[in-house]
Amino acid sequence: MSAPIDVPSYTGPYTELFERLPEQQQAELSEIYTKLDALPAGLSITVGNLKGGVSKTTTVMYLALMLGLKGDSVLVVDSDATNRSALLWSAASAEWPDNVVVKAWAGDDHTGKRITGRDMVERVRAVRGRYRHLLVDTGPQMREYLAAALKVTQDFIVCSSPYPLDTQQIMPSVDLAAEVESMKDGPLFVTVLMSKARKGTISLREALEDLSNDEVAYFDQPISQLETYALGAGSVPSDFREYIQVLGELVDAQEESE
Ligand SMILES: Nc1ncnc2c1ncn2[C@@H]1O[C@H](COP(=O)(O)OP(=O)(O)OP(=O)(O)O)[C@@H](O)[C@H]1O
Ligand SMILES: [Mg+2]
Repeated sequence: MSAPIDVPSYTGPYTELFERLPEQQQAELSEIYTKLDALPAGLSITVGNLKGGVSKTTTVMYLALMLGLKGDSVLVVDSDATNRSALLWSAASAEWPDNVVVKAWAGDDHTGKRITGRDMVERVRAVRGRYRHLLVDTGPQMREYLAAALKVTQDFIVCSSPYPLDTQQIMPSVDLAAEVESMKDGPLFVTVLMSKARKGTISLREALEDLSNDEVAYFDQPISQLETYALGAGSVPSDFREYIQVLGELVDAQEESE
C-alpha cells in the first residue's frame, strides 16, 4: 500500500467553490496556499503586453480567483478602459468572492473626469495596505497605464502567443519594464507567459529558444489554447488547469527572491 499523501486541508471561506475543483487541483492549490502563508509579502503583479487578445485579462482573473479562494484579500485594478473586461467579468459572476475587489482606475470616472496613469498610481498606493495581493490588468497599446502599473508592482507577466506576429511585441514590453525599473524603488521581475500555445509545436519551441537567447525569463508552464479557459470568462472557474502551475512558479520565485 502506498503511503497517504500529506495534503494540507482547505481552510479558506469558499469551501463550495473550492471543492468543485478537480481533486488534484485542490491538492496542488492547498500546497501553494501553505507556501503563500509563509511569504512575508503578497504578490504584486502587472499583466500586460502592448499587443491585444493575448490572454492578459484571463491570466489576471484566474490568478486573482485562485488567491481569492484561499481567503486572502486581492485588489484587481482594471486599467483597460477600452473594454473594462476585468470589471465586467467580476460583475457577470453571481458567486464572485467579495475579498476579490475589482477597481476600474483608468479612462473616465463616473463624473466624466479622466483618470490618468499618475492618478491610478496614487489610488493604488493609497489603498495598497488593505490588500494582501495586487494584480493589474492592462490594455493593449496603452503605454501610459502599463508604465503606471509597473511602478506599483514587483512582477510583470508579459502574455504572448508563441506565433511570430505576437512574439515580436514582447521586446518593446521588456524594454518599457527596464525603463520603469530604472526610475522606481525596488526590482521589477519580467517573465513571459506563453498563452494559447500548443505543446510540442515548433512555434512554442522556437519562441522559448528566442527568449533564452535574449535572456528573457519565461514560465516553464505555458497555457494551452483550450476552450476551458475561454468558457471560464465571467465566472469563478471550476477548473484552473495550467494556471495552478503558473501560480506555483510565481510563489516559488518570490520565495527565492526573499
Ligand atoms: N488559453 C486560452 N485558450 C482559449 N481561449 C482563450 C485562452 N486565453 C484567453 N482566451 C480567450 O481569448 C479571448 C481574449 O482573451 P483575453 O480577454 O484574456 O485577452 P486580452 O489580452 O486581455 O485581450 P485585450 O487585449 O482585448 O484586453 C477571450 O475570449 C478569452 O476567453
Ligand atoms: Mg484584456
